[in-house]
Amino acid sequence: EQSVTVRIGIVTVSDRASRGEYEDQGGPAIRSWLESALVSAWEPVARVIPDECARVEETLAELADTAGCCLVVTTGGTGPAPRDVTPEATEAVCAKLLPGFGEQMRAVSLRHVPTAILSRQTAGIRASTLILNLPGKPSAIAECLDAVFPAIPYCVDLIG
Ligand code: MTE
Repeated sequence: EQSVTVRIGIVTVSDRASRGEYEDQGGPAIRSWLESALVSAWEPVARVIPDECARVEETLAELADTAGCCLVVTTGGTGPAPRDVTPEATEAVCAKLLPGFGEQMRAVSLRHVPTAILSRQTAGIRASTLILNLPGKPSAIAECLDAVFPAIPYCVDLIG
């Protein structure tokens, strides 16, 4: 029997990181968090893209449909600024939303920073792919993933 290596998409949504104006810290932080949390073999598929709704939608669809990722985690673009469109792109490509993920991540994040209320982060399902939004701050990544991770493998099993 061959063992299957699952793919996980890691998408940094940031105008400045995509232009090379600063180094992407969010993507690598997600990768190292997952490396310590996951026990079975997995392969990251990383992308760094600007805050453009069409680009975010295309990237999420490509990682789900073509790359076959069972999970896609985004970082950035969840706030109230005009260029923040990651939740809209996520909603556009998903058939079902899972608002509980955003609710829980905000509730836990609010214990750390009052500005957590500004994140519109959500999650949803596209076919057999779970898409999860995290804020752009590298410090938010562990806080948010710790808060919801127990539900992730179970959800991926249910939709797979
Ligand atoms: N959540 C956690 N855990 N830690 C943070 O520092 N920053 C907040 C919020 N959520 C933050 C957080 C801030 S300041 C903003 S503006 C929103 O996430 C949206 O961030 P984003 O646009 O980079 O996604």
